[in-house]
Amino acid sequence: MRTTLNILVFGSGAREHAIADSVLKSPLIDKLYLAQAGAFDLGEVIEFSDYEDLAKKCAGLKIDMAIFGPEEPLCQGIVEIFKSHNIPCIGVNKYFSQLESSKLFGKKFMEKYGIKTAKYEVINNLSTVQPFNRSTVVIKADGLCGGKGVVIANNEAFAQKTIEEFLAGKFGENSKTVLLEEFLQGEELSLMSLWDGKTLLHFAPSKDFKRLNKSPSAPNTGGMGAFCPVKLNSFQQKKLDEYKNKLKKALETEKADFVGFIYSGLIMAQKEGVWDWHVLEYNVRLGDPEAQATLAHLKTDFLEVLKAALEQNLDKIKLEYNEDISACLTLACEGYPKTPRDGKKITLPEETAENRDIKVFYAGVEKIDGELYSKGGRVLSLCTTSQDPFWDLKNFAKEIEMENKYFRTDLEVR
Ligand code: AMP
Ligand code: GLY
Repeated sequence: MRTTLNILVFGSGAREHAIADSVLKSPLIDKLYLAQAGAFDLGEVIEFSDYEDLAKKCAGLKIDMAIFGPEEPLCQGIVEIFKSHNIPCIGVNKYFSQLESSKLFGKKFMEKYGIKTAKYEVINNLSTVQPFNRSTVVIKADGLCGGKGVVIANNEAFAQKTIEEFLAGKFGENSKTVLLEEFLQGEELSLMSLWDGKTLLHFAPSKDFKRLNKSPSAPNTGGMGAFCPVKLNSFQQKKLDEYKNKLKKALETEKADFVGFIYSGLIMAQKEGVWDWHVLEYNVRLGDPEAQATLAHLKTDFLEVLKAALEQNLDKIKLEYNEDISACLTLACEGYPKTPRDGKKITLPEETAENRDIKVFYAGVEKIDGELYSKGGRVLSLCTTSQDPFWDLKNFAKEIEMENKYFRTDLEVR
């Protein structure tokens, strides 16, 4: 591999903005290219008609490493297409992308390797559904539904209605198979890991605030904030180490042939009297907003880590972190997640974010004549590292001018 690298970052959200920002800080970067880019103009944008076209253009531009942010291209097999053009990729192959694109595939993987998870049954036909005798159940569409395919139902009528809607094709083919899952209660944790085919390197655990507000029955969102690291007690750490070993064994046994991220959405729950981490979901990418907080916390050169992964040298990497805690806070539009209103002008405080060590990543932003406008429910992802990061971020968010802005004021590191 060359000593300085041409990098492609694929994707348009705050996570990809943060990845681009991180790799640009590295002395290993030669040139940054962006595909399906958002409004963040940190590199040269490559326009393309399809993934084959993009791969050809990247080969022509001598891209040394393609980093894929979102799951869709991975699930559509973009890694296989890039590899056929000899472009090294950070991204899961199509087969393992099913860990995210099929909840059932994920469950079978967990069963095979003794990884703890919620009990479940598969439903293809409403007439086969037995009465639940449980106050709360979780209904999950098997396929990708843009974060909308999980419903927690606390009465049977609502559960039946949801299953009916899913089976009738609310999310097309992706909800024609439904999982009815046992409801687990406990603290959630996000564990992001990088696999190089031999070594599974784990980033410091992080926490994502998924609910729209502090009420436990508030709607689930794409993430209203996150922080990293999460301090674990010795029991939680011991159990996490056991889980990490199981995941590594599973990837080794499968001879998983990719270089990419695996995200484990975990919950510390008690089942049959035993407390342990249970997997709620797998993703095959970095979490958003966890990536923003984790990359801010990371002191080690992120591009050096990715380069080591492509060279199958992750065993030589020891991750180092800043002493303080990193967090990010989502600034959304009122109405999110159901009916966000776009097109609001955003004016950032006069005292620039950089002077206050705050990064402003674009989640859903459009730039028109140099001005920023909201475009999407989650608009900005504000990120900092300090002793009380949510305090700093809330104050900054208050100063941002945007009609109908909404952010959580109750978030804190805990
Ligand atoms: P998922 O996309 O599967 O992670 O689900 C999104 C969110 O729904 C999770 O982060 C949890 O907050 C919640 N959730 C999913 N599965 C369960 C479960 N079995 N028990 C309790 N909460 C769950
Ligand atoms: N923050 C969870 C996710 O990215 O799916």
